[in-house]
Amino acid sequence: MKGIILAGGKGTRLSPCTRITNKHLLPVYNKPMIYYPLETLVSAGIEEILLVTGGNSAGDFLKLLRNGKEFGLKEIHYTYQEGAGGIAEALGLAEDFADEEKIVVILGDNIIEDNIEKYVEDFKKQEKGAKIFLKEIPDPERFGVAEIKDGKIIGIEEKPKHPKSNFITAGLYMYDNQVFDMIKKLEPSERGELEITDVNNFYINQDTATYEILKGFWSDAGKFESLFKASEFIKKRNKETL
Ligand code: G1P
Repeated sequence: MKGIILAGGKGTRLSPCTRITNKHLLPVYNKPMIYYPLETLVSAGIEEILLVTGGNSAGDFLKLLRNGKEFGLKEIHYTYQEGAGGIAEALGLAEDFADEEKIVVILGDNIIEDNIEKYVEDFKKQEKGAKIFLKEIPDPERFGVAEIKDGKIIGIEEKPKHPKSNFITAGLYMYDNQVFDMIKKLEPSERGELEITDVNNFYINQDTATYEILKGFWSDAGKFESLFKASEFIKKRNKETL
């Protein structure tokens, strides 16, 4: 299975810090944000990774991550998203890289404590479809929110005013290669982006989406509040593993 890290976007919720650099290069405690999703994939045994980025600071990723050797990779692949057309648009750029294989996709601002190796192995065996990762949180309205019935996700709403549960979709997804034809048919949402939630709902409607609930710490780091929370978690974790 191949891995894709999505690290584009304008990062407006972290302005003015993001006026001069890409959000995913900002520090989460003692490392640049992008290190964490990269380590999540590497520790799950993913050996081929594509980083999709964009904006002015795209070249800085190469300076920082170089050929990926430091992370135990043979090489790391890069591509460039023009503009900020959304997560699903960025993912669409990975079609040639995926080369018909199943993929695991992680958002560059997601900090995930769980080791996902077992889920990668499970998804390799899943005949077709997607695997979606959920996390129970108290304030779900900022995210994609899943509606669950009889042990199945029956729909996901993006940033709903009245969330149907406290289970949000974390920025971690596994897809078969139907995903690329699907993305080509997507229409932009109200915020002018191709939404990953529409991709997930496609698989839910096809009845091929499985899900897992993350057990450990999870946070995005795309706002000052969540960036701070993620930094606090890493600080605590580093202390414990000393
Ligand atoms: C994106 C997705 C959302 C998901 C979240 C996880 O939100 O659209 O469904 O719950 O990532 O971090 P965004 O960061 O674009 O607001």
